[in-house]
Amino acid sequence: MNRIEWSENFSTGHGPTDAQHKGIISDCNIMIEHLSSGDTARCSQAMSDCLRNCEQHFVEESTLLRSLDGIDPSEHFSDHQQILVHLNGLKKKCEKVCSGQACVSEVLHTIISHMLKHDLKIRQHFIY
Ligand SMILES: [Fe+2]
Ligand SMILES: [Fe+2]
Repeated sequence: MNRIEWSENFSTGHGPTDAQHKGIISDCNIMIEHLSSGDTARCSQAMSDCLRNCEQHFVEESTLLRSLDGIDPSEHFSDHQQILVHLNGLKKKCEKVCSGQACVSEVLHTIISHMLKHDLKIRQHFIY
């Protein structure tokens, strides 16, 4: 499984948000590395770190979204909640039995899709 590299295509133009997004992508890469080396216990630990960082990030991002004009953040907020429910469900499964690449791919897909669909809307306030 390949690492995810940060790309300017992910950039919101808001420094603290981009730094947090980079941190979350880094957590995902740590999961990939541990899974690739067969260390499922460390992969599971990295998943917990990822989940905790997502929770913290969503709190900060929500504050930012509320401060921006012209954005109705309700759909964005509800996607954050769905992500946390989904990742917590995956984490509970992971603690019982490792589903390997399927799990890590699902975590990545969930996070990256959200960044591209919702977080990039922040961009118009900071880049353009
Ligand atoms: Fe978000
Ligand atoms: Fe975000």
